[in-house]
Amino acid sequence: MAPSHLLLYCRAGFERECAQEITVAAAGMGVEGFVKARPDSGFAVFQAHQAAMGAELGEHLDFSRLVFPRQLVRTGELLAALPEGDRVTPIVAAARALGTAFASLWLEMPDTNDGKALASLAKPLLPHLERALAKAGVAIDDAEAPERLHVFFVGGRACYVGLSATTNGSAWPMGIPRLRMPSGAPSRSTLKLAEAFLAFLPGRTFEPGTTAVDLGAAPGGWSWQLVQRGFMVTAVDNGPMDAALLDSGQVRHRRDDGFHYRPPEPVALMVCDMVESPSRIARLAASWIAQGWCREAIFNLKLPMKKRWEELERCRGLIDEDLGGGGYFLRMKQLYHDREEVTAYLARR
Ligand SMILES: C[S@@+](CC[C@H](N)C(=O)[O-])C[C@H]1O[C@@H](n2cnc3c(N)ncnc32)[C@H](O)[C@@H]1O
Repeated sequence: MAPSHLLLYCRAGFERECAQEITVAAAGMGVEGFVKARPDSGFAVFQAHQAAMGAELGEHLDFSRLVFPRQLVRTGELLAALPEGDRVTPIVAAARALGTAFASLWLEMPDTNDGKALASLAKPLLPHLERALAKAGVAIDDAEAPERLHVFFVGGRACYVGLSATTNGSAWPMGIPRLRMPSGAPSRSTLKLAEAFLAFLPGRTFEPGTTAVDLGAAPGGWSWQLVQRGFMVTAVDNGPMDAALLDSGQVRHRRDDGFHYRPPEPVALMVCDMVESPSRIARLAASWIAQGWCREAIFNLKLPMKKRWEELERCRGLIDEDLGGGGYFLRMKQLYHDREEVTAYLARR
């Protein structure tokens, strides 16, 4: 029996947005259901009213289109009250019901303080689980297998056992890319753009000398990422840029307002990390694409405290309106390195 629930990992505090998003996405595919999402738990579970419809939804939902979920796992009911002395046996039985070959086994927990405490409890289980799965005839390192096996602990004696398609989900355990802060980068924000490249343009390389504009660039964490990728960057900000970055010879600093600056020649990429209302940034990015000032754009939308999902929908609507209702490609993600914000990628088709 195919798993009928959808388990979505998210940033703690964004369960409500996750719930709104999955409900809308499911309804759009003709599936009605409800979501269990405890505030600050770091995950949400969507349950279709009809199990078969839920299973179908899990197979066809496109993870890359979802903003708030960090991972998409198809699962069954919570395994609650696992026997203290033997948590492994019920987990193996649930895994066996899902299949006999998986690309990997990920033992995970919510990205919360409670989750961190659970990690020390759950991680020692791993070797026992691996042995027991092997004994039950379940392979967990089959490179050909299309799915990963997830064991997601939500309590010391409670977990979900589910699967995710290797081609339709996050490629990192817990949906968290572990990026090291580069020592030469001028700000921690640099990790946001590094993660955005991984999320939106995986494996993409650029010809040395490709042009880019960085709006709201100071002190230069995003420009630094562009420099590492060989770009020639125009960094627009009234604030000071990191001196070493300017010494690279690949960054030209323009003290200007990011909303007024226009590139003298079209550039390949525009990136924008200005702290402004999301709708203003969305419209700015749309206008850069519409005017042909850049071919692609990566920009950060700082979310309001309330109605965050609604605000994103509004931004999407504004972009669509400004780009004439089509002919573009838009993805938004709340990246691990994002806080009260999401990152978007926009390009002409
Ligand atoms: C979050 S910081 C950018 C950090 C940068 N991405 C990095 O990695 O170092 C936001 C920047 O946007 C700039 N900014 C805000 N409004 C701006 C505007 N209208 N025009 C140009 N820069 C602006 C601020 O001066 C600030 O340096």
